Amino acid sequence: MRTQVAIIGAGPAGLLLSHLLAQDGVESIVVETRSAEYVASRIRAGVLEHSTVELLDSIGLGGRLRAEGDEHGGIHLQWPGERHHVDFVDLTGRSVWVYGQTEVQKDLVDARAAGGQQIHYEISETALHDLETDRPSVTFVDRDGNAQRIDADVVVGCDGSFGPSRASVPERLRETWERVYPYSWLGILADVAPSTDELIYAWHPDGFGMHSMRSATVSRLYLQVPNGTDVDTWSDDRIWDALAMRLGHGQDGWELTPGPITEKSVLPMRSFVQTPMRHGRLFLAGDAAHIVPPTGAKGLNLAVADVGVLAPALVALLRDKDDRLADSYAEVALRRVWRCTHFSWWMTTMLHTTDDPFDAQLQLSQLRWVTSSAAGATGLAENYAGLPIGF
Ligand code: FAD
Ligand code: DHB
Repeated sequence: MRTQVAIIGAGPAGLLLSHLLAQDGVESIVVETRSAEYVASRIRAGVLEHSTVELLDSIGLGGRLRAEGDEHGGIHLQWPGERHHVDFVDLTGRSVWVYGQTEVQKDLVDARAAGGQQIHYEISETALHDLETDRPSVTFVDRDGNAQRIDADVVVGCDGSFGPSRASVPERLRETWERVYPYSWLGILADVAPSTDELIYAWHPDGFGMHSMRSATVSRLYLQVPNGTDVDTWSDDRIWDALAMRLGHGQDGWELTPGPITEKSVLPMRSFVQTPMRHGRLFLAGDAAHIVPPTGAKGLNLAVADVGVLAPALVALLRDKDDRLADSYAEVALRRVWRCTHFSWWMTTMLHTTDDPFDAQLQLSQLRWVTSSAAGATGLAENYAGLPIGF
């Protein structure tokens, strides 16, 4: 096979990139190890930043999002006895949208199907070759067991945190930064109307708790749990009791309504960045280059922002033979990566309890400042609701 851009991974980064390239007349082929059904049903992120929504709108993919998603003007931040609303619209003029990653993925899959995109699902043995030449290639074994090869001008690794692309940057050139957190999230989906209008992020001595949602009838909630937690040790009743305690059931008359749990899983948390995000004709985007802990809802948005910078750079390189944007991609993308890495770390360490009482006092002091000072609240709002693409 021959194409201009070989894209590894059909998650949000890979599919959005193929869509943006196609809009500017650049061809691509996408390869993916999982099945289309598996990728479509993975429950992950839920909050879209202002600039993510603007980008999806600008390419005609904002229709269902605006019809079925839910615009939120801010979040609630709380600790025992206190709940405060941080109003992003008042502070920055920007809102966020609650619209699940599964829905974004579906919109992208539909758009790419309508555009006749070639996507090879259920492939194996993905390997990248000749990345330091202008004729790189990707080889793999297709779902019928046939060896395949894609010759391309550029290879883009959108293959998430476990894909092979990032290891294709020679070790001597790679630099990595990592922080592993001493806690995980137990996440549930429940068939019950949300008990809140906007997301609640709660600090509690028992551990962080969070109330998010997916629709008027589906709630998404999270609990801080120790690393290595076996999900089977958390019965549905135990989960709802812990959520009620941490989210402040009964506080000022607020009540958490429990309901049937339809999905339950434990998610470890880490921060990770690898540079460079470009090596020769290989470009990395999304989780393939960086991972953030979920507090602050940045992972999906950061993947979209990378692609928002990369797509015009590849169009300039391949269509107009202008390499200036491709040469600055890694540097431009990394500025936002580190901003979001810091913000996610800051939200995470402000809200998750440790067994150190000194940490707890600093966290509560920080929460009081963020919720009472315009400067503190604006910093959170600007980072959460989003910086412009290309920041
Ligand atoms: P991915 O969505 O991971 O897509 C990469 C794709 O590459 C996958 O489909 C994978 O199967 C494929 N692939 C891997 N290896 C190969 C290979 N060898 N060959 C071909 N294809 C390959 N973010 C938030 O903001 N909020 C959240 O609540 C949140 N929750 C999350 C929960 C979980 C369990 C996980 C894993 C992530 C969560 N994230 C969350 C992060 C967010 O989902 C990711 O940042 C986002 O999916 C990144 O998109 P991506 O396209 O870069 O990577
Ligand atoms: C969701 C996840 C997050 O990490 C977050 O900060 C907000 C919402 C969610 O899954 O809905």
